[in-house]
Amino acid sequence: MINKFPRFKYFIGFSFLFKKLFALLLTKNENDSYGSQTQAQISSLTNRDHTLFFSSYRMGVYFYLKSLKLPRGTEVLLTPITIPDLVNVILNLDLVPVFCDMDLENHSLCINSLNKNISNKSKVLIITPLSGCYSKGEDIVFYAKEKELFVIEDISQVYGIPHLHSDSDVMVGSLSSGKALTSFTGGFLSTNQIALYQNIKNDTEYKSLLPPPKIRFLFELFDNFKILLATNSLVFNYFTFNILKLILSIRPNFFKKIHETKFLTRSPDKDVFFDDLPILRKSLPKSWFTYFSKWQSGVLLSCCHQLPRISKRRIELSKLLFEHLHSNVIEHIPKGFHDFETNCYYHLPIYIDQVSSADISSLMFHAGLDNDGYGLNLCTEEEVFKEFHSKTPHAFRIKKNCVFIPLHESYSNSEVITIAQKLNYIFDKEP
Ligand SMILES: Cc1ncc(COP(=O)(O)O)c(C=O)c1O
Repeated sequence: MINKFPRFKYFIGFSFLFKKLFALLLTKNENDSYGSQTQAQISSLTNRDHTLFFSSYRMGVYFYLKSLKLPRGTEVLLTPITIPDLVNVILNLDLVPVFCDMDLENHSLCINSLNKNISNKSKVLIITPLSGCYSKGEDIVFYAKEKELFVIEDISQVYGIPHLHSDSDVMVGSLSSGKALTSFTGGFLSTNQIALYQNIKNDTEYKSLLPPPKIRFLFELFDNFKILLATNSLVFNYFTFNILKLILSIRPNFFKKIHETKFLTRSPDKDVFFDDLPILRKSLPKSWFTYFSKWQSGVLLSCCHQLPRISKRRIELSKLLFEHLHSNVIEHIPKGFHDFETNCYYHLPIYIDQVSSADISSLMFHAGLDNDGYGLNLCTEEEVFKEFHSKTPHAFRIKKNCVFIPLHESYSNSEVITIAQKLNYIFDKEP
């Protein structure tokens, strides 16, 4: 009987992976950075007319910021739980990152903090809704537009939510491994502004992007294979979980940092996109200046095809989970996440502080609910960015005291009810 659940599972399966491996070997490495089919799919998701593709999310932001031709020293406001290389992109364009705090209820931007940090040098705001929660998404954008900011929305973690209708200037998304939409590294930018679209399309640097090496994708496929294997229901239930349990009993400190280790991924010196190392880059690596290939388009189209089914099932299972959770568990789930009909959880976070002195994360693990918090870095705590640190106590709490409830579209109704019962048991026992 399956009663142990991994902290996270990918949205694809083994057959998807093998089909794409074959396709990789057979497809020419042609440029498809503005392919019509992928444009149509992403434009319908973002409700924007024009879409362009890149090697990654960070490069979508890079080309957008570059197209704005902002004076040196212009401030870009952003929230701190993000990829460190977003900060590097800002710095390499001679702009200044200014961190705003986050909202404890929806894990997006805190409007009060935006008000405190905005100055006459601030021209751009990057909003990053996390975990599939888009609660107040449109209001935040509306507010920022009233302040005459250029607004970028990073929608990497909100694919599949029913409505994305905000007024942001651009929606930019990552297609890295593990996302609901992936092309095993990749990114896109969607906008309604035709002039902006043409500007980026005609940028000489964009026009001279190089082919991505196929070996990059082979590594990605191999990494995905390892993760699919380790988190496969049977393998996790009878093998991976016990390995984790052993690690927890002999090296508890290592266990807490397991997501930072590279044994499931490549070594740091091979870092291309997804290891998210907090380093300060004097220049942007050449490997980022690659185009979006035809093979990547094919992978993305397959993901777009399966997204509606996955989202529907995730929404159904979230509803079921909430129906079976006791109120004293639900009260620790951030409020913005209670509306399971308008969100589509990429993760479902729960605060584990303010419960009791017990280590809730460890109790969950021993009950078979493997768990972890945000893997994204908290950039206001990273030493390399200390020049730009500011106080962001909400972001600190979100990063340090929140874990995710395991949830995946492949789970049966009874598995989700089991997850709810385990959580009820843990939280009911704690005063
Ligand atoms: C919110 C968010 N933005 C961006 C990224 C990654 O961006 P990139 O495609 O540049 O690696 C991720 C994934 O790690 C993410 O979760």
